[in-house]
Amino acid sequence: IKFTNFKCISLDKSFVDFRQCRLKALSRNQVALSLSAKLYQVPVTNVGVNADVYKKANGYRPFMFNITTDFCRFIKYRKQTPFGKMILDAVEKYSNINHTCPYDHDIIIKDLVLESKHLQSLPWPMGDYLLKISFAVNNDWKVTVKSYIQVTEE
Ligand SMILES: *[C@@H]1O[C@H](CO)[C@@H](O)[C@H](O)[C@H]1NC(C)=O
Ligand SMILES: *[C@@H]1O[C@H](CO)[C@@H](O)[C@H](O)[C@H]1NC(C)=O
Repeated sequence: IKFTNFKCISLDKSFVDFRQCRLKALSRNQVALSLSAKLYQVPVTNVGVNADVYKKANGYRPFMFNITTDFCRFIKYRKQTPFGKMILDAVEKYSNINHTCPYDHDIIIKDLVLESKHLQSLPWPMGDYLLKISFAVNNDWKVTVKSYIQVTEE
């Protein structure tokens, strides 16, 4: 499993700006993802999140997951949202997001590498996926990040 593309989109430049949003190939099967987002209006306390997944088959088609929830509640009680927990488990040790709200600092993910063990809690047939995650603050959508992921073994 590896990243094949990565896009960060700010929907409100007065709120958030991406300083870094990139992939770096470490080897044929390992690609590291890094992101640095500058937040201009902190602290951030009221955060909504939508995560949906698409699988490639004549274009990207909706796949199984589409979750909209209160991010601050999720990060406190992550086990209640298995799909979100799977993402957080993969990201947390490479980032500074693993704490409860409020967020009063820039958001950084450094050299995140996907490992197949991260997927084992849920079924992921071989293929190309798009994982799209959007965040809203005070009910206003602020960012979308799109991770393109290739799964080559089940
Ligand atoms: C997921 O849900 C959101 C919000 O309800 C909606 O806008 C979006 O189109 C849905 N995505 C898919 C893939 O169905
Ligand atoms: C993330 O936070 C949770 C809850 O505080 C903790 O159990 C876990 O060990 C943390 N993970 C990392 C990688 O620091």
